[in-house]
Amino acid sequence: AAPRTARHVLTMCDLSREEVMDILRVAAAMKDSRRNYLDTGYDRFSETLKGYSLLTLFEKPSLRTRVSLEVGMNQLGGQAIFYSIADSPLGVKESIQDTGRVLSRMCQGITARVMTRKALRSLAQVAEIPVINALDDYAHPLQMLADLLTVLEYKGSFANFTMTYMGDLENNVTYDLMRTAALMGYNLNLGGQGDIEKSVWDEVNALAKVSGSKVKVCATAAEAMTGVDCVYTDSWMSYGIAKEEEEARMKLFMPYQVTADLMKLAKPDCIFMNCLPAARGMEQTAEVIDGPQSVVFDQAENRLHAMKALAVFLMAPKRFSEIMGLG
Ligand code: CP
Ligand code: NVA
Repeated sequence: AAPRTARHVLTMCDLSREEVMDILRVAAAMKDSRRNYLDTGYDRFSETLKGYSLLTLFEKPSLRTRVSLEVGMNQLGGQAIFYSIADSPLGVKESIQDTGRVLSRMCQGITARVMTRKALRSLAQVAEIPVINALDDYAHPLQMLADLLTVLEYKGSFANFTMTYMGDLENNVTYDLMRTAALMGYNLNLGGQGDIEKSVWDEVNALAKVSGSKVKVCATAAEAMTGVDCVYTDSWMSYGIAKEEEEARMKLFMPYQVTADLMKLAKPDCIFMNCLPAARGMEQTAEVIDGPQSVVFDQAENRLHAMKALAVFLMAPKRFSEIMGLG
């Protein structure tokens, strides 16, 4: 039989602005519905994905992603199956294509945290069920949805909003932050080092043309930070960076470390974000990440609510529409 086609989310470019707003609305409703669960035992979404299985494939380590996927599926009445590439025949005795076909017969969705976009794309090409990127070398959409939910909670909307990203520019999270700003129509200043791939600029420029967003690389850290509403940073030592590279990277990125002095250049109500894991004394000082402007643990919690909304959106679109209708 001809393979069924499924909707995948490999980067933020796979969603429209309206879809993202719908997902955020459902994520907020899911967060709200769960608020009193430990007292009442009631959550109106506790059977939304009953009978659904999500395969979660990991080639790199994880805390937030793995736990949010497993807890999220459990809270929706479904299950997540943790599958480590280290324990699998994938790439050794079995091709990624065959893996995708087999999973399509048993599960309703796949998340994959793999080293390369190439591996993710080959999986998406053959999968007849939705594939969600759980971090490759190119994007991190699950993180983006949680970040947007956090921004909405603190700022109310994306109007007149400027974010600054500081640090490693040649980076999966940076790339998706650029796409997300351009998609949602807010501004993004970039301060850091590294060559941003041309394909990312092409995507960002096309989206920004429609939304009016301005995404730009600033000459200095001070320029990037001045007058902004939110400062975001990510690890200088992404998963897979070799030990020998660490010293040189420390030197390269140190001028872009987010310090309390730099934070003073931003708006007084500027929030500080980091997708975590974080290293105090590297991409930011302890004073900043543990200080009053930091919202990093709200961001981490929102990984759970955002994941749940995206899972329903992709795996059970009819139910998602019903939820939207119910408000
Ligand atoms: N932010 C994030 O993806 O964290 P993990 O690597 O712990 O999943
Ligand atoms: N850029 C980081 C993100 C971790 C969530 C990495 O790839 O390790």
